[in-house]
Parts: sequence; structure tokens; C-alpha cells
Amino acid sequence: MGRNMLKSGRAALKGYVSDQNRGVPMPEVQVPQGGERIPLPPSTENGIGLRRAIESRESRRSFLPEPLTAGELAWLIRCVAGVRRTLRRRDTGTITLRTVPSAGARHPLETLVAVLDVDGAAPGLYRYMPLEDSLAGTGRTPSREEVVEACLGQAFCGSASAVFIWTAIPYRTEWRYGPASPKLIAMDAGHACQNLYLAAEAVGAGTCAVGAYDQKLADAMCGLDGEEEFVIYMAPVGKIIAAGS
Ligand SMILES: Cc1cc2nc3c(=O)[nH]c(=O)nc-3n(C[C@H](O)[C@H](O)[C@H](O)COP(=O)(O)O)c2cc1C
Repeated sequence: MGRNMLKSGRAALKGYVSDQNRGVPMPEVQVPQGGERIPLPPSTENGIGLRRAIESRESRRSFLPEPLTAGELAWLIRCVAGVRRTLRRRDTGTITLRTVPSAGARHPLETLVAVLDVDGAAPGLYRYMPLEDSLAGTGRTPSREEVVEACLGQAFCGSASAVFIWTAIPYRTEWRYGPASPKLIAMDAGHACQNLYLAAEAVGAGTCAVGAYDQKLADAMCGLDGEEEFVIYMAPVGKIIAAGS
């Protein structure tokens, strides 16, 4: 049943020599990606209190046909992957501390966003570049139909304004934690998605975690190799409260 993956994994680390122990350089914090950059605009949100955001959070599967604004999208992205501080360490090189926790600050997750209908952002698939706080175009423009197909026919996924797609670059975590990594990476993803749930409440929007997706279709939609980087979680976001109400 794969249950062992849920256990601490520390036993597997007994005597294990990680790439970090071996002196292999730390993998890069940010995917080297050429091409045009779109700096994120200032974040926009409605100042909802944390208590209200937590108490009203629920999985939303019905969205208004209304776009998010670029400022709202920027808020959401920063809440799931934004960098609070960078630290330069002699033993590792640059590491990031973000708005979400990550085991050993390895941050194996990449945040890709399929923009379907966002005011001030052209439709397309973008990769968040955390060190630059910008979006990099991927040259892909997934259609609503492709998104639904990748999400195993879950129609609501195609009615969103934007779809958050978390991918994992497992080696970032494996470099230190080796065989104990899968659990740690999965837990990291949960933190990011919960932040998205709460942050969405602060822009009159909602989201729903999507763990039911077709691995091959999702990876192909994002142009990923499926080995060194692959999709692990998705979350369509859309407005649930009309602007001005
Ligand atoms: C890991 C995970 C995967 C999920 N995958 C899906 C999914 O593929 N489709 C869906 O409609 N909801 C999905 N959900 C949402 C759950 O169904 C939802 O959280 C649950 O019914 C409780 O409802 P609530 O979030 O409104 O409290 C997922 C939730 C989690 C945490």
C-alpha cells in the first residue's frame, strides 16, 4: 500500500550518505529559464482577517465568470512561494526562506500557473521565478479543455481564472534527505496549497485542491520530463464574490 512512505524515514537514513554529505554542490534554488520575464505587480487583497479566512475556507468548485486581477494573482503566488529572505551559506550556497515552510528549506516545489482569464496577464503557462519575484513564460498556452482532461474530466478545473500547478524537483530534497524525501515533499505541497486556500479568501476567490489528475497528461501539458520534474498537485482558482459586492 505504500504506507512506509508515511513513516519517519529516519531508519533509512541510518548510514546513508547523501549527496550533500559527499560534497556534491546543492541543486539550484531556481530553475534556469531563459526568455522574457514579467515582474509581478504589487499584491492586492481585501484585508480579510486570518480568523475569518480560516473559518470560511472551504473547497470551491463553482467560480464566477470574472477574471482575477494581476495584483490578486501576484498576492496568491507570493502566498504560496514568495521569498521572505535569502541566506548565503558557506556550506550550501544561497537558500531561500519563504511564505511557506519546507523541510530543510529545500523548497523542492515549483509553482506554475496556467493563466486562463486574468486582467492584465495574457493567457499562458508561467513559471514563478522566486529569486526575481517574476513570472517566466513557458511558451505554452493550455486550453480550458486541456486542463479538464489533465484533471481527469473534473469540469470545474476548466472554469477557473487561473490554475496553480505545483511540480516537484525531487532532487532538491533528495540531495539532503535521500530516501526520506517523498514524504517530506508531499508535506511541503500541503502547506503551499493550504496557504492558497486562505489567500484566495482574501481576494473574494476560492480554490480546490486537486490530487486526482492524469500524470502523463499533466506533465505533457506543462512540458515536463516527468522524471526530474513532474506535477504533484493542482488547484484551480476563481472568483466566488463579484468585485464591488
Ligand atoms: C490532497 C487532496 C486532494 C484533493 N483532490 C481533490 C480532487 O481531485 N477533486 C476535488 O474535487 N477535490 C479534491 N480535494 C478536496 C477535498 O475533497 C475536500 O478538501 C474535502 O471534501 C473537504 O472539503 P473542504 O475542503 O471544503 O473542507 C482534495 C483535497 C486534498 C487535501
